[in-house]
Amino acid sequence: MGKLTGKIVWVTGAGTGIGEGAALALASEGATLVLTGRRAAPLEEVAARIGAAGGAAHVQPGDMTNAAAVKAIADWIETTLGRIDIFVANAGINILDRGWDQITAEGIDTVLHGNLDSVFYGAIAVLPIMRRQQGGQIIVTASMAGRWVGLMSGPAYVAAKHGVVAACHTINMQECVNGIRCTAVLPGEVATPILDKRPVPVSAEERGRMAQKEDVGDLIRYIACLPPHVVINEVMICPTWNRGYVAGLQRKSTN
Ligand SMILES: NC(=O)c1ccc[n+]([C@@H]2O[C@H](COP(=O)([O-])OP(=O)(O)OC[C@H]3O[C@@H](n4cnc5c(N)ncnc54)[C@H](OP(=O)(O)O)[C@@H]3O)[C@@H](O)[C@H]2O)c1
Repeated sequence: MGKLTGKIVWVTGAGTGIGEGAALALASEGATLVLTGRRAAPLEEVAARIGAAGGAAHVQPGDMTNAAAVKAIADWIETTLGRIDIFVANAGINILDRGWDQITAEGIDTVLHGNLDSVFYGAIAVLPIMRRQQGGQIIVTASMAGRWVGLMSGPAYVAAKHGVVAACHTINMQECVNGIRCTAVLPGEVATPILDKRPVPVSAEERGRMAQKEDVGDLIRYIACLPPHVVINEVMICPTWNRGYVAGLQRKSTN
């Protein structure tokens, strides 16, 4: 029996990258998974792997930027599976043309809706259910770009992820009396498909030195297994070979 046996866990962005890593790690602890993303095919693949390992996973495709669609999935989970113990708000997106000299109104909408609104819509869908349960856990994949301002991720992404981190803290401030806790996970660079949208291509060698989806998935599994009376409010996970630090060292050696 795993530490999450009997728990109902909803993971968004579950078909690829960190969400895929988290879904597989959470299923390995016995949780029943609900997998959401816009494309059904990658979700079905993850569900099949969970099933092959003896676990249970339900595929519920949907767009997290559509508030009605998000609420419909949360309601389906409560009606069909009875509760939502853990919500992993992981879906996110970035764009290629991200600098102030390139970004368009459409690009701003894509990034703000995809990273910030999506978390808010998920939170307002699950919180009433968790209040009724008088317990629940929300784990949000934010970013180091949500703690420090830099140019690499683009201003819209940095602004959205700062908003996400702030939102996580306010959930703890208001919902702690309902037994609800929230963790903001702030990854540095993780080798996932989102890197394919980088303006400067990332080599296979560089991806190999980064954190991997399994590393962040295992951190999310650890957070999910914490006893209900404690919360890790915010946590960072970065590659040891941190390209930002390495670039700083290179500048230092040429000064
Ligand atoms: N990789 C990194 O270096 C890094 C660092 C810090 C933070 N993060 C954050 O980590 C999270 C996961 O990203 P990742 O790195 O694992 O990249 P990824 O593989 O591209 O995963 C993003 C996932 O989100 C889903 N998604 C995107 N927009 C969606 C929407 N509107 N509705 C539902 N699902 C949506 C995508 O599936 P569909 O396309 O099928 O919808 C995809 O499975 C994101 O929030 C990202 O910002 C990543």
